[in-house]
Parts: sequence; structure tokens; C-alpha cells
Amino acid sequence: MSASFYKNVVVLGTGGTIAGLISDPSREVGYVAAQVGVGVIAAQSSLEGILRPLNWGLLTEQLAQIDSKDMDRSVWHALSSRCLEHLNDPKIAAIVITHGTDTLSETAYFLSRLFGQAHKPVVITGAMRAHNDLSPDGPQNLRDAVDFAARLDQAGLGGVWVVFDDLVHDPMRVKKVSAQSLNAFHSFESDGLKDSIAPHRRVSHRSTPMYFEPMSEPMVWTSWRFDPAVDPQTWPRVELLTCHADMGNNLFLDHLIDLKIKQNHIDKFDSLSGLVVSGLGNGTWPKVLEDQLKRLLDLGVWVILSSQVPWGQGQAPKSSCLSHAHFSFTTLEPSKARIALMLHLIKTS
Ligand code: SIN
Repeated sequence: MSASFYKNVVVLGTGGTIAGLISDPSREVGYVAAQVGVGVIAAQSSLEGILRPLNWGLLTEQLAQIDSKDMDRSVWHALSSRCLEHLNDPKIAAIVITHGTDTLSETAYFLSRLFGQAHKPVVITGAMRAHNDLSPDGPQNLRDAVDFAARLDQAGLGGVWVVFDDLVHDPMRVKKVSAQSLNAFHSFESDGLKDSIAPHRRVSHRSTPMYFEPMSEPMVWTSWRFDPAVDPQTWPRVELLTCHADMGNNLFLDHLIDLKIKQNHIDKFDSLSGLVVSGLGNGTWPKVLEDQLKRLLDLGVWVILSSQVPWGQGQAPKSSCLSHAHFSFTTLEPSKARIALMLHLIKTS
């Protein structure tokens, strides 16, 4: 791509620790997320050295200002709508998103399902230390994200990526693994291959193809063409249940069964459409849940079994629900399986 044609990188701010403040930086106390505007964060990152040689300008937009524990479908909708506009704008070369780390991997996966094959880069980053920390990691992470977006653009590549603490991650595999460390993200089932685009940087292995799960997956997630006109409150509701020892007849499942019965009688009572079970081991759930889960399946709720164990999956689970039309399993981690099922159901409903 020619560097002489004036283009911009746009940094969309959504909040998080990268925009957080601590009341006493010397003692690292009094932390609050999402306080500082994205324009200030970008200015702190001294991006000129990356942008000037490319003849790129810098635009910033405050898309949201939240602690990412509160990320929801409305913000995802606003973010996706804005990304779509920028992807279609010839004056925008790349999009960089600043995000809280707690749900960063979910937003990255959500965006990758929408824009994973985009011709422009969409790079997401954040920080583990607040904006006014004595030694913040946000400025370097944002510089790295812009730098990686620029390298992708120069190579004529796009897609959705996570850049954090000197690593580039595939949204499908990345997960937050530390609540303290600067090296807070890890890509599971990846080789840490070097990437020619960023030779100085370790790059997580991108499993192919982006939009679909490996062929062994029984569930082929449909790709979804994002339509900003569709109200996100109408997106199907998919809940998540975590398996553990000592489970009895599950009260949450009882509630979902009641809800679904009401929903089946009163049109549009609620939009419960799916449940992801965060299973054990290679994908199992306690025997005691069997009847309740079959009940939900019979009521028309999709049940997807995923495993909370990040490594070593690959065999089909031994579930008695295998033959049910609305049952499937996935090697995606549970929180991403929840998003995948929601998008799948938007597509098919
Ligand atoms: C958040 O996720 O918004 C707060 C935590 C963080 O960004 O590290």
C-alpha cells in the first residue's frame, strides 16, 4: 500500500485499565478503570514515530468508557457498527481498539467472527497497569498495536488480532491467564510461531481457516454478516453453566426450564435460545445434570458442550445427548462458544 496517499489509523477507546487511574500511584492504591479519554492515552503513547514515515494521521474516538466486566451486546453492536464504517472508509487504513483486559478475548473473538476476513487490520490491546501508574504498560502496548497494524497494512493484510505485552494473538485461541502479570494473555493450542510480519515479536499460531472450527467439530458455525440495523436486544440469549464437583439438581437449570416453558407459550416472552455447558476434562458433565439438560433440549434450547480445560481436547464427548439435533460440542473455550452459538443462532433464526 502506498505511503504517499494520506490515510489514518483510528484508535477506538472502550475503557479498561489502560484508561484507568490510581489515586496514589506511589502506593498503587485507589484503582478505578475507564477514567481517561482515548485521545489522552494515544498522546501518551507517542505514536508519531510509527505514523510519520507512513504518512498516516491519527484519529481517536471514545466509543465507550467502561470497565470491561460490564461489556455487553449494546457496546459490541456500537463497536461493530463503527468498525464496519471505518472498514468501508478509504481514508482509514487500520483500526486499533483499546479495551479492558477482563473480557478483551471475548470482544476480540466476537469481532473476529465479523471481520476476521477484513482487508484492513483491526488490532485490540489494553493494559494491566493504570494510565498514571509509575511504570504503565499501556503506552507500549498501544504503540505495538499500531505498529503491528501498520505492518499488516504494508503487507496488504488485514483481519482481527490481539497485541499484548510483545505478543500477537489469534482471537480464537487467546485467553487472559493472569490477574497481575504484564504478560497476562496466552494462546492455547498454539505453537508460538514466528511471523514474518513482525520478526522481532513472537506471534501465536493462527489456526486456519478463521471462520470455521476444525473439521472434526460437529458444529459448523455459520459466518454472520453483521447488520447494524438489527437491534442487539433481539440477538438470541445464550447462557453459560459451569460444571464442578458436588452438583445437585441445578437451580439455574430449573429456572431456564421454567423460562423456556413460558417462552414456548407466550410468544417472545424471552429469547432464551441456547446454553453452553462449561464441562470437565475432555467434555463431560456430571450425571446428575443429564435429565435437566435433556429437558432443555426437548424444549428447543441448543446445548453446546465445551470444556473448561484449555489443553488436550479433541475426542468426542461420551454424552447420551449426542444424537439430539440441538446438541453439539466444541473445542472453543466456553465464553467464546457462547458467542459463537449466539451468532450462529442469529444467522439461523
Ligand atoms: C477491565 O477489564 O476493564 C479492567 C481490568 C483491566 O483492564 O485490566
